Amino acid sequence: MPGAIHAEGLVKTFGDVRALDGVDLDVPEGTVLGLLGPNGAGKTTAVRVLTTLLRPDSGTAVVAGIDVLKKPNEVRRSIGLSGQFAAVDEYLTGRENLQMVGQLYQLGARDAKARAGVLLERFNLGDAADRPAKTYSGGMRRRLDLAAALVVSPPVMFMDEPTTGLDPRNRQQLWDVIEDLVAGGTTLLLTTQYLEEADRLANDICVIDHGRVIARGTSDELKARTGGERVEVVVHRAEEIEPARSVLTALGEGEVTVARLSRKLTAPVSGGARLLAEIIRDLDARGVEIDDIALRRPTLDDVFLSLTGHAAEIRENGDAETGEAGAERPRGARGKEENR
Ligand SMILES: Nc1ncnc2c1ncn2[C@@H]1O[C@H](COP(=O)(O)OP(=O)(O)OP(=O)(O)O)[C@@H](O)[C@H]1O
Ligand SMILES: [Mg+2]
Repeated sequence: MPGAIHAEGLVKTFGDVRALDGVDLDVPEGTVLGLLGPNGAGKTTAVRVLTTLLRPDSGTAVVAGIDVLKKPNEVRRSIGLSGQFAAVDEYLTGRENLQMVGQLYQLGARDAKARAGVLLERFNLGDAADRPAKTYSGGMRRRLDLAAALVVSPPVMFMDEPTTGLDPRNRQQLWDVIEDLVAGGTTLLLTTQYLEEADRLANDICVIDHGRVIARGTSDELKARTGGERVEVVVHRAEEIEPARSVLTALGEGEVTVARLSRKLTAPVSGGARLLAEIIRDLDARGVEIDDIALRRPTLDDVFLSLTGHAAEIRENGDAETGEAGAERPRGARGKEENR
């Protein structure tokens, strides 16, 4: 299994924080594992251990058929890493950065140059190629960092939040690049806060929290486990939240989640369109005016929320909308660990 990733019982503590508390991971060759988890869950720590940047307190890991603890240098030659904190030399231009990486990996000067050119175009950095990286925007840096990870095509790639901070168009393009890469046989472990990204790219998903794996499976398996349909109601006025909550509590199948700022209530339901009609009648009878109502299947976001008690993408939408939805869950929102 030259391209696989296999880890067992990884533990890593920092003082009294157990960043990894016995993590097992398996990524078959040529597949994509999406590692999901709230801020501080241990995702970056797992990636750092698997890429030899950090020694675990205990546990074993084999990447590309090589023991990570015994032969870190060999592992490094078989992997590519694009990090959460971009490793870009500020004073070099984008092109020079990529050429330097190529030479580090012992591509000849000509090959390194050609490869840099291809990647700069592919990541939309053609126009900025000859400017120092310190003049790049955040999204440009991120793209340069990703391009650097792809200078040589290693059999195993690790990407820690590859598209955080990219605009939708660049994110889409990056997904295409990643899909090409995987179609070519690369094994990929990626962490992400965008569940849509995991949904689209990952064969398997592993959810971690507090350094432990709390769920794994395909996206469909995880969704099925979270349960059936949900109804979402957006009421017109804040005063209508409570009466609407009573209606949903009576007709729904479980806890009603409320996002106050957007006046959106969500509840698990069963009964489809017929129930929807009933909900609308009851809301109407109580004089609740609705701006929007919809029945929807669980998304990976629902899975994440129900497993961890946090909404994903808090960092970006930090508007209370997702934060609050999380805050009304039993476990409550844990403070977000700021590390960026
Ligand atoms: N070098 C370190 N020293 C001390 N504590 C650390 C260190 N690295 C990580 N931690 C702690 O370990 C835990 C896991 O951190 P990690 O960076 O792996 O989380 P993460 O899942 O990548 O989070 P995020 O989504 O914010 O990137 C956190 O509580 C973090 O504060
Ligand atoms: Mg991280």
